[in-house]
Amino acid sequence: MRAVLVGFMGSGKTTIGQLLAKKLQVSHVDLDQIIVEFAGKSINDIFAQAGEQTFRRLEHELLQQQLAKDGILSTGGGTPMLDANLKLLQNSSAPIILLEASTQTITRRVKDEGGRPLVNRLTSSELANLKQSRDTLYYKCADWVVKTDQRTPQEIIAEILPKL
Ligand code: S3P
Repeated sequence: MRAVLVGFMGSGKTTIGQLLAKKLQVSHVDLDQIIVEFAGKSINDIFAQAGEQTFRRLEHELLQQQLAKDGILSTGGGTPMLDANLKLLQNSSAPIILLEASTQTITRRVKDEGGRPLVNRLTSSELANLKQSRDTLYYKCADWVVKTDQRTPQEIIAEILPKL
């Protein structure tokens, strides 16, 4: 991979990944999307019917597979949670870019969108706690951190592109 994007739900991994790939004229892979295609059902349905553990197993297998390819990879917000995934990311030769946003921004972004089982299940303060605990893991694998609060996607990719 040319670059891997990590960060909490709603940090902009998919939007920024697509824009970066377009600019660099490489392919963009969204790990959630690949999981949906592989399973033939939505993330919500995988969580509801097969459980989070099954989702995480699929996520791990497909992460391993995708890291070996070229392009830009947008991971899921929970991808670095699994120790094995964290190791894969830390050992990857691709730069791991953390898209960072405040809890306030994240809450606003994710509550407006559907399709995230964890968001439906958690209260706002539980979501804030989850973000705080995940941040440690994101920083463990990130090669660099890009702030996304109050910045347009164009401003964000303008910061990333010269470094790739
Ligand atoms: C998850 C984040 C989601 C998706 C799934 C679980 C998480 O990805 O993988 O709903 O555990 O944070 P996005 O970060 O792309 O929303």
